[in-house]
Amino acid sequence: MAKPTFYITTPIYYPSDNLHIGHAYTTVAADTVARFKKLTGHDVYFLTGSDEHGQKIEHTAAARGKKPREYVDEIVAGFKYLWSRLHVDYSDFIRTTEERHKRVVTEIFQQLYNQGDIYKSTYEGLYCTPCEAFWTERQVEEGNCPDCGRPVELVAEESYFFRMSRYADRLLAHIEQHPDFIQPVSRRNEVVSFIKMGLEDLCVSRTTFDWGIPVPFDPKHVIYVWVDALTNYVSALNYGAEDDALYRRYWPADVHLVGKDIVRFHCIIWPIILMAAGLPLPKRVVGHGWLLLESGKMSKSKGNVIDPLVLIDKYGVDAIRYYLLRELPFGADGYYSEDNLVLRINVDLANDLGNLLSRTTAMINKYLGGEIQAPRPSADPLDRELIDLALMTPGEVAGLVDQLDLASALAVVMKLVGRANKYIEETAPWALAKDPEQRERLATVLYNLAESYRFATVLLSPFMPGFPARVWAQLGLANRPDLHTWESLTWGRLPAGTRIARGAPLFPRLEVAK
Ligand code: ME8
Repeated sequence: MAKPTFYITTPIYYPSDNLHIGHAYTTVAADTVARFKKLTGHDVYFLTGSDEHGQKIEHTAAARGKKPREYVDEIVAGFKYLWSRLHVDYSDFIRTTEERHKRVVTEIFQQLYNQGDIYKSTYEGLYCTPCEAFWTERQVEEGNCPDCGRPVELVAEESYFFRMSRYADRLLAHIEQHPDFIQPVSRRNEVVSFIKMGLEDLCVSRTTFDWGIPVPFDPKHVIYVWVDALTNYVSALNYGAEDDALYRRYWPADVHLVGKDIVRFHCIIWPIILMAAGLPLPKRVVGHGWLLLESGKMSKSKGNVIDPLVLIDKYGVDAIRYYLLRELPFGADGYYSEDNLVLRINVDLANDLGNLLSRTTAMINKYLGGEIQAPRPSADPLDRELIDLALMTPGEVAGLVDQLDLASALAVVMKLVGRANKYIEETAPWALAKDPEQRERLATVLYNLAESYRFATVLLSPFMPGFPARVWAQLGLANRPDLHTWESLTWGRLPAGTRIARGAPLFPRLEVAK
């Protein structure tokens, strides 16, 4: 039977600067969902990339004395390096400067023009270059962009316009009929009230700079960078090409994961482009919250940007991924602080997760000569409780990952880890070890611990892809990939006779400066 497909995307980031932990959050979250879906038997396509055109990039390159192309090549190489260091396993990386992308943007633009959805007029209004967004008088706040707070510029130029207004009712009806289309609900409500205020036609070309895709029928214009960028989600699938197998297999996308700042572009402009082009809409757009600093939003000008590479070097990639995914509550904003990062590492990863493995393997070594032994069938309520929890956890985690609630999904796995730690206190293997009559009980307790750990490791593997290999080595399961799978999460698959191999602590405790 063919596997169900699952197509997930991240925003394509601007190479106007190096990426920070906010961008890392989105991409790591999408990577985790992609890995989880693969684990649970889906045919997954995971797309990320870079949004390389527009006035902002042209300005930034010029400020550094470079040609745009030369400048973006360097920054984009940095994006790819960051993703490799963060264990981000994308299927494809689309750059908007690639021919395969330009072709699709050009064709869709031409189609919309041919059918009368794009027309020429004069744009006079306000533009925010950092956000690459047009605003009306009504929307700007004291001359500043309502999104980023920076001054907008008055621009007046002959432009092409996209008749968005024509599609407003259809879009509203779609949102109403597809309650999952925009998540969470708070974002959906914002989008609905924005549309209800009345959609104006969108200015979709510029003439004051040329770093962009030319309008095919009037090449002194370049196509508005958001129309260009949003199209990446289908251009990467070779939409309209002779071989469009990827498009046919994966479109419509299951999830566009984005930050809340760009929900409006993804839930209004993009669906209307698709409707006009006669293509199906993505199934879900999920807008997550901001990762903030105590001092506010990260920005270069404030000099408070947190570089993920520095954190990876200092704390390790698994810890950083865990922290990002655990800390940002679903849909809401969260705060980054290094103190909290260290606290999470010490409490969750060192004390709970790391310790459970070292205690379990230490006891198997000391009491059972390093070999996992067969459990005895047991009606002990402590065993039942642990086993039942282990058996319930995969389904619960899968449900939360489906909702993109990764923080809660991690909390659920960590509950199993916590339960297993408590089981050690309750069963007191060190006391059982003193009584030769309790030998089978002791073997059963240690089996249950090792088997629970196997469950937790499989479930954590999409979140922290680096850590399982070290666990499998210690549990003696490195050569048993069949026991690292979702399908293997039925109780009791861990074979008796497995020899464990103690290793270094998974997550050493960090010293906290007083
Ligand atoms: O908007 N917290 O690119 P961009 C959480 N090129 N997420 C954050 C964040 C923070 N502090 N800062 C950034 C663009 N992000 C366009 C996208 S898509 C067709 C075009 C993440 O480089 C978040 O996902 O400004 C946000 O939506 C995205 O980076 C913006 O990246």
